[in-house]
Amino acid sequence: MKGIILAGGTGSRLYPSTLCTSKQLLPVYDKPMIYYPLSVLMLFGISEILIISTPEDTPNIKRLFGSGEKLGLKFSYIVQEAPRGIAEAFILGKDFIGDDKVCMILGDNIFYIQSQMKTYRAMVNEDNDMATVFGYHVSDPERFGVIEFDDNKQVISIEEKPKCPKSNYAVTGLYFYPSDVAQKASSLKPSKRGELEITDLNKLYLSEGRLNVIPLKRGNAWLDAGTPDSLMESSQFVQIIEQRQGLKLACIEEIAYRQGFIDKTQMEKIINGLKDGVAYKEYLQKVYEEKHDLY
Ligand code: DAU
Repeated sequence: MKGIILAGGTGSRLYPSTLCTSKQLLPVYDKPMIYYPLSVLMLFGISEILIISTPEDTPNIKRLFGSGEKLGLKFSYIVQEAPRGIAEAFILGKDFIGDDKVCMILGDNIFYIQSQMKTYRAMVNEDNDMATVFGYHVSDPERFGVIEFDDNKQVISIEEKPKCPKSNYAVTGLYFYPSDVAQKASSLKPSKRGELEITDLNKLYLSEGRLNVIPLKRGNAWLDAGTPDSLMESSQFVQIIEQRQGLKLACIEEIAYRQGFIDKTQMEKIINGLKDGVAYKEYLQKVYEEKHDLY
């Protein structure tokens, strides 16, 4: 399976913090925002990743990750010239996707899935012909794509930012599609706000009976860090968990090592490449020396 991180857009809700830098490179507590969606793709076992961003921001993201080789990953980059909609990612990524399934995650989405990951990973890999999205119970559904269920918990409709939401279940920014997604995205027409809507794409799969909706469990967290308040809340969330446990969320080097994308020698190389006294280095050193698997 291939992966896409969509990390473009104007970041206007975070103006003026996004005047000179991309939203997805702003810190969420102790690391750049884009580390969080990247960590999700890695935890789903995905190593071939396309990053899509703006003409201005793509060079900086490239400076951050390079080819991905250090992490045992393979990155490619494509520029989205203008924010023409989330679904445009699949048109831009058509050649990258080829005949594979693809997972796309929005660059400002933060997921805390933990022990459920194994289950979700099995579920999204069950059927190669189905698309899968995740639903999350929120207090403000009108800000999102909203899922309507019937009495048998079957999905009836999905509406983008409805004035009168039919449920509290928002569609999160984590999407899995079969390889025909590029072709389907090409058939979409821009919405009233001039964008190729991800909700319209999901509706196409729904109309063909090919959309699977997995509600995230109550203990899971989903945050989008795209406004000053949600950015602050995301940082606080990460800080609380990391300080209490002494374990980091979305530490991509740790994940690469624990998931087997890199071996001991490659991990040593990463650690030795960091300056002494850097707290992040000390953390990686601890991870490296730890004898046991984590629960
Ligand atoms: O966060 C989940 C929600 O994301 C879904 O529930 C909605 O159905 C979906 O439309 C989307 O809503 P948003 O209002 O959050 O979309 P936004 O325009 O903010 O774009 C989300 C991210 O994607 C943002 O970080 C910027 C990036 N983006 C967006 C567009 C439209 C791009 O890189 N290119 C684009 O053309």
